[in-house]
Amino acid sequence: MALENGLARTPPMGWMSWERFRCDVDCEADPRNCISEQLFFEMADRLAEDGWRELGYEYINIDDCWSAKQRDAAGQLAPDPKRFPSGIKALADYVHARGLKLGIYADLGVFTCGGYPGTMLEHVKQDAQTFAAWGVDMLKLDGCYSSTEEQEKGYPEMARALNATGRPIVYSCSWPAYQGGLPPKVNYTILAEICNLWRNYDDIQDSWTSVLSIVDWFFTNQDVLQPAAGPGHWNDPDMLIVGNFGLSYEQSRSQMALWTVMAAPLLMSTDLRTISPSAKEILQNRLMIQINQDPLGIQGRRIVKEKSHIEVFLRPLSQAASALVFFSRRTDMPFRYTTSLANLHFPEDAVYEVQDVYVGKIVGALKAADNFTVVINPSGVVMWYLRPVALPLQPWHVVRQQAPGKGFHPALL
Ligand code: GLA
Repeated sequence: MALENGLARTPPMGWMSWERFRCDVDCEADPRNCISEQLFFEMADRLAEDGWRELGYEYINIDDCWSAKQRDAAGQLAPDPKRFPSGIKALADYVHARGLKLGIYADLGVFTCGGYPGTMLEHVKQDAQTFAAWGVDMLKLDGCYSSTEEQEKGYPEMARALNATGRPIVYSCSWPAYQGGLPPKVNYTILAEICNLWRNYDDIQDSWTSVLSIVDWFFTNQDVLQPAAGPGHWNDPDMLIVGNFGLSYEQSRSQMALWTVMAAPLLMSTDLRTISPSAKEILQNRLMIQINQDPLGIQGRRIVKEKSHIEVFLRPLSQAASALVFFSRRTDMPFRYTTSLANLHFPEDAVYEVQDVYVGKIVGALKAADNFTVVINPSGVVMWYLRPVALPLQPWHVVRQQAPGKGFHPALL
């Protein structure tokens, strides 16, 4: 049974401060980029005014380093008074007034990873109530400075405490990331009953090496991870770094496509005030987002690993549609990759209408048996959206039906 709090039926989308803005708390030297209410007010404005919200990017998530260095006299977590003078409730109100939702960060341990007050077991209930009272809509519960035993107790306990508040709060657990991400230490059946999403692996950094190491880990372990995901419970390979400094244009398109195939949460961590038109176009690709948010919520898999360093990924979608990603790990030049849908395990007799997700155009109708060639740039992708097309009934259909032998199969409906 999954965590049926009714939330995150599709992967959560939004913005998160950590990868881009880290624990920059020096508002005197760096007022524009420090972790302060100003940063979140400004990002909320951008989400609401620049077309993000309409596309589904609705969460604005505060990560580490938001709080004061001590709990208050009542033992409550409190925001840093200099950097969040209006308080978190006011920030939540601001965000809600713009049709957005607010996320916050806590850590099941003595300290957060950044050294701020943690949520020890005895504070779990109180902190859940504080967050609910502030109007928080998502909680990321990190695991620094906590033991395996504390995690075993604390993660389920926070799930119960959040439920008990009566406020719908999406629950993101970093638990598996602190236990190596794999069975037997990690039990994904239990996780899906407790958390709406979970970090399985290392933190993303602003580099292609980091993206590749995450991609490698997730697809090497897809037999374990892929079945764990579904509506209400998602694997989280960490934030999108598109729009930052570490990725080329091709690599940015690859991160977006691969995260979409993984049914990953789309949590951008970039400066939406200064984002380039090309990064914005990648992140605002409608068909991409439709695929990421497919209601079936089936995580995709890597289905081909060629000696030529081309890899193919497939995600099944609703209405018998699917997404294919052709990914090149090559470093020489655009590569002409030839294959057929039949090679990629599509049913022999099927015909598909193919749409290129980045180019936007319909490529044409393709029979499973037909060979085709895609040209994939170094560290780039070609991504396709495929919809089955019914074959029109043709006169020879009658003749074929009567002919014994090869057996006639109608095209997929
Ligand atoms: C851990 C998490 C990161 C981030 C930092 C904050 O490393 O995995 O996503 O929240 O802590 O300190």
